[in-house]
Amino acid sequence: DVPELLDRFGRVARDLRVSITEKCSLRCTYCMPEEGLPAIPREQLLTADEIVRLVGVATSRLGVREVRFTGGEPLMRRDLEEIIAGCSRTAPGVPLAVTSNAIGLEHRARALAEAGLTRVNISLDTVDRAHFARLTRRDRIGSVLAGIRAAKTAGFTRVKINAVLMPETLDGATELLAWCLDEGVELRFIEQMPLDADHEWARANMVPAQRLLDVLGQRFALTETEREDPSAPAERWTVDGGPATVGVIASVTRSFCSDCDRTRLTAEGTVRSCLFSDRETDLRAALRGGATDDELAALWRGAMWNKWAGHGIDAADFVPPQRSMGAIGG
Ligand code: GTP
Ligand code: 5AD
Ligand code: SF4
Repeated sequence: DVPELLDRFGRVARDLRVSITEKCSLRCTYCMPEEGLPAIPREQLLTADEIVRLVGVATSRLGVREVRFTGGEPLMRRDLEEIIAGCSRTAPGVPLAVTSNAIGLEHRARALAEAGLTRVNISLDTVDRAHFARLTRRDRIGSVLAGIRAAKTAGFTRVKINAVLMPETLDGATELLAWCLDEGVELRFIEQMPLDADHEWARANMVPAQRLLDVLGQRFALTETEREDPSAPAERWTVDGGPATVGVIASVTRSFCSDCDRTRLTAEGTVRSCLFSDRETDLRAALRGGATDDELAALWRGAMWNKWAGHGIDAADFVPPQRSMGAIGG
């Protein structure tokens, strides 16, 4: 039996999310500043071998059952295939996923599937070219759509689309859902969290999930489904009798922190117990200093034990974390 990543509230982290870079090919306003994030000096980034080693520690000694690679944009690393291949050797049978904007995926989907990548979630907020260019500050929707189509035929078990809810996406939500239904990909809308680099998020401007459901309900018949797994962030509705579904990740208005099962590694090799907590535990220094797998596992357990109850976005004294979404990885 593998000891688990337990916290003081009795939650167990089984889902590891690894950010592998802070670089990105887009500049979504709710995530990145216009100029991008400052580059991390190369020697401070975990190498492919170091990532594989830490994933091995998590899966063999800490009870982690699923690993997701995020960024920034994970495709910005040319050694993503190598990372995936290494993890599938070190952690056989553990599902390996990526959350990506799909730029360039067209040319890499097949190799990633062959390396052992199981699933991809792709961020796409609108299918309107001009809206896309405005939201992401880059006119590159063509590459994203090509990436989605390549992902569908590359052999992944599923392809999901993530759309962050904003006034602009609310206007195009019906169209986006119709497009996803046509393409046979599952769409999920995400409430915007205060993780933008520019700190412009305001509760009053945030589009709540319920408004989206009202808008979609005018065009589609939505029926709420049972949650597959209480720690899954998405609530799902079948569309027009199914089998297609649409999901909502209501991180703000219906937060799921009490069922949280996540642990995170930053691109620099620190453990973050929560998206919003700036308290980080450095594994890179220990790893480079010659720590054994058992010692790394003990440090990681300590980091998770101290996880707080939840994000507290609605509390009067809420302060957004220093790292923006692009530096945590969603
Ligand atoms: P699946 O396993 O496919 O369901 O993936 P996922 O939904 O866990 O991963 P994905 O990277 O697609 O995340 C979708 C969105 O959920 C992210 O963009 C975040 O906005 C939100 N999210 C992910 N993890 C957390 C979390 O730990 N806390 C909160 N509050 N939101 C999260
Ligand atoms: N709030 C919610 N989701 C966000 N994402 C990026 N920034 C935010 C935010 N402020 C999403 C992206 C992507 C995932 C990694 O995180 O759209 O789907
Ligand atoms: Fe977990 Fe923190 Fe996300 Fe809440 S905000 S679900 S505690 S990672």
